[in-house]
Amino acid sequence: MRAEKIIAVGASAELKSAYPNEPTLDASGCVLMPGFVDPHTHLIWAGDRADEFEMKMGGMAYLDILAAGGGILSTVKATRAASLETLIAQTRPRILRMFAHGTTTAEAKTGYGLQTATELRLLKALLALDAESPLDLAFTFLGAHAVAPEFKDNPQGYADELADTTLPLLKEWWEVNAPRLPLPFVDVFCETGAFDLEQARQILTRARTLGFPLKIHADEFDNLGGASLAVELGAASADHLARTSDADIQALGKSDTVAVALPCTPFGLAEKDYVPAKKLIEADAILALATDCNPGTSWNESMQFVIALACRYMKLTPAQAIAASTINAAHAIRRADEIGSIEVSKQADMLILSAPDYRHIGYRYGTNLVKQVVKRGRVYSVDVGYYQTA
Ligand code: NIG
Ligand code: FE
Repeated sequence: MRAEKIIAVGASAELKSAYPNEPTLDASGCVLMPGFVDPHTHLIWAGDRADEFEMKMGGMAYLDILAAGGGILSTVKATRAASLETLIAQTRPRILRMFAHGTTTAEAKTGYGLQTATELRLLKALLALDAESPLDLAFTFLGAHAVAPEFKDNPQGYADELADTTLPLLKEWWEVNAPRLPLPFVDVFCETGAFDLEQARQILTRARTLGFPLKIHADEFDNLGGASLAVELGAASADHLARTSDADIQALGKSDTVAVALPCTPFGLAEKDYVPAKKLIEADAILALATDCNPGTSWNESMQFVIALACRYMKLTPAQAIAASTINAAHAIRRADEIGSIEVSKQADMLILSAPDYRHIGYRYGTNLVKQVVKRGRVYSVDVGYYQTA
């Protein structure tokens, strides 16, 4: 490793003789692997929805809670009321937990503002968190996460405002506030009760014209054709896909649009449909995994738990699940040239796991196997242990 990058890969003996003066890290008996990349999170919000969790487990449907003004909209209320400092303070521990569980890069979406001032405050907070924490963030604007309450009776008006006013303004804001970073992704929740296919097309087409890279939430509850729209528009990823049709699967298979599966979401909602991963792989699609970390359907920061679910309910092998959580996930945020695998000239983002075999990820769950995280060449110890204080 040098200047944050990997400069050579090989057997220990070979490397020790080629670089005799470099510091070493003993990983004997452990798994060494690339850091996890989590390509879909709604990381920044205020408050929680423990009350709704209780209602959902009591039988109330997620989309019914949203239609009654709760769900995403109850987090919107709490988030609008939170200051920049509060948002940063509430999000920081989530980032630290992700990092301790081995995520070295994560995508983070806005979407709990649904009004320009709050959406931009969320981006500002995310930029500050990216700058302060070892974990790297990739940014996504999800102003189209739900119809803003002000437009309850005029959802098309909100879609028009996003496409015609908010997106051009976002572009200008980004060029001033994050001039050295690539433009954020623009994402749309294409779903019954959120944005229909034509509104998704309207917003994403406008975003593409302005130069934004694209993502979409598709087929989480109903199949509206969002995955095929993502392919048509050259989106980086189509995410959720629990109810994706065979035609959509074939379209994804012929494309570079990554299929991002979020098994914590059906698990979190106690639903039974998981992404048809086998079909996607057979169709030659690029499959990635993510936490979907959010306060409504999946408050989980650990990619290790995602893998445990993916092996059981999506029938992935541990090796497939690891590829989906590293290199394929890097493709989903268009960073595969820099991260996602242990290769010369990539960023030195790696994990040392207290496990004798990579299959222990997935096999074991509910505890953290990460012993050390290497991020941009710096070593962070996160191993669990008992410490007697007196
Ligand atoms: O990906 N589907 C939309 N967004 C989230 C849920 C957000 C929430 O309920 O707060 C998801 O599942
Ligand atoms: Fe999501």
